[in-house]
Amino acid sequence: MTDTAHIGLIGLGVMGRSLALNIADHGFRVAIHNRTPEVTRTVLDAAGALQPNLIGCDTTKALVDHLARPRVVLLMVKAGDAVDASIKNILPLLSSGDILIDGGNANFHDTRRRHTTVTEAGLQYLGAGVSGGEEGARYGPAIMVGGSADAYDMVAPILLAIAAQAGNAEPCCAHLGPDGAGHFVKTMHNGIEYADMQMIAEVYHLMRHGLGLEPPAIGDIVRRWNEGPLASYLTEITADILMTVDPETDAPLVDMILDTAGEKGTGRWAVTEAIELGVPVPTLCEAVAARALSARKAERVAAEEMWPRRSARIDNDTAAMLSALEGALLVGRIAAFAQGFAVMSAASRHYDWQLRLDTVARIWRGGCILRSSLLEAIARAYVQAPDLANFLVDDDILATVQQRRADLQSATALAAGTRLPAPALMSALAYVDGYFRSRLWADLIQAQRDYFGAHTFERTDRPGAHHFDWNAARE
Ligand code: 6PG
Repeated sequence: MTDTAHIGLIGLGVMGRSLALNIADHGFRVAIHNRTPEVTRTVLDAAGALQPNLIGCDTTKALVDHLARPRVVLLMVKAGDAVDASIKNILPLLSSGDILIDGGNANFHDTRRRHTTVTEAGLQYLGAGVSGGEEGARYGPAIMVGGSADAYDMVAPILLAIAAQAGNAEPCCAHLGPDGAGHFVKTMHNGIEYADMQMIAEVYHLMRHGLGLEPPAIGDIVRRWNEGPLASYLTEITADILMTVDPETDAPLVDMILDTAGEKGTGRWAVTEAIELGVPVPTLCEAVAARALSARKAERVAAEEMWPRRSARIDNDTAAMLSALEGALLVGRIAAFAQGFAVMSAASRHYDWQLRLDTVARIWRGGCILRSSLLEAIARAYVQAPDLANFLVDDDILATVQQRRADLQSATALAAGTRLPAPALMSALAYVDGYFRSRLWADLIQAQRDYFGAHTFERTDRPGAHHFDWNAARE
């Protein structure tokens, strides 16, 4: 066949079509297919100069027929049942050695299961987490790949070409480990994403309702912050958002947006996996819970009528408080990333993935939603100490946390004093303080467990499991 494609791509939603154009843009020929053929034609019509590199296919069979062996097919269908249906449909058309890639936001447990099914059929399976939204997919996402290293090597020329670049033109794409490792890392990326977004929103809320600043002024402040240690994609877009005016009402657009946040599940998965692994991720949990609270709009409206907040003017030095909020966000961000990386470290041990956390940090420096200057420091910490249980103890990172902890204290005090909720920031403060405390309150928890359930406890002065007869002591 003359018009042979390097890769087939199934699913031309926003991410799928953007990736197809990105691949075509890098000189690879892509066979594209969508369940609805009109969508395929729309993509071809809009492709302009890239059209010669795209081959529209009305059926999966036609797509497969356009591929040279080993065939590589990238699935960009909705995460969940649609992936299983696509695999079921395409497996009989493929043969030994061919490679299937799931580029959606799959749950890594599903990826592990699919990996087994597909490899048992003699094919290869890669689970690739792709981050960066539509823009990233089109012009350079971060790509986190799990699956066999051999299969990765075969598709690497395409993935490395289309990925974002960071640092010294290093591609933000890597093979991170077997089966579900890539999708696990993407899930943790999203858990941290939820936390970072939530803390930015909390700080905004404090500036708006605690300090009485207007969105454009806050946008200006956040834009300045973006030139310092808080430099990141999420900080940058927040500044843009806050400076945007609603063309219909001339009000700040953010004021016209209903305050109920949606979610598609990845934040929840991140927290669930952390809990299963016994790793504390309070800030990620709070971010998920905060979205759930926000969604209960009607309840909140009714409750506020019963107990309204008095917007007392707080006697604050605004400049000092703004500086504290900047520091609070930095420490909060560090805490959220530390929690997410601690989960990856635990998962790597649990699943025997040998995850290189320095590589994770490096490929997150570009393309993905979490790209930020902090990732340089995190990457360096893991280069120096690959087995670091928690990067909070890295000398440089710890120095920053020590310097700015008081800012997080001030920010959360402002929140508490004004009855403005800042759950993620508060959890970050407690997390940092808890992590650096050798003796916690769990002595009493153990005593309670032993008191009511004879669960036993360990003693500080000698080994073994001990039970105390609490009732006898009271007599
Ligand atoms: C990314 C994002 C993306 C994610 C959205 C939606 O890395 O590009 O994480 O993959 O799906 O942010 O997430 P929610 O709808 O759950 O907020």
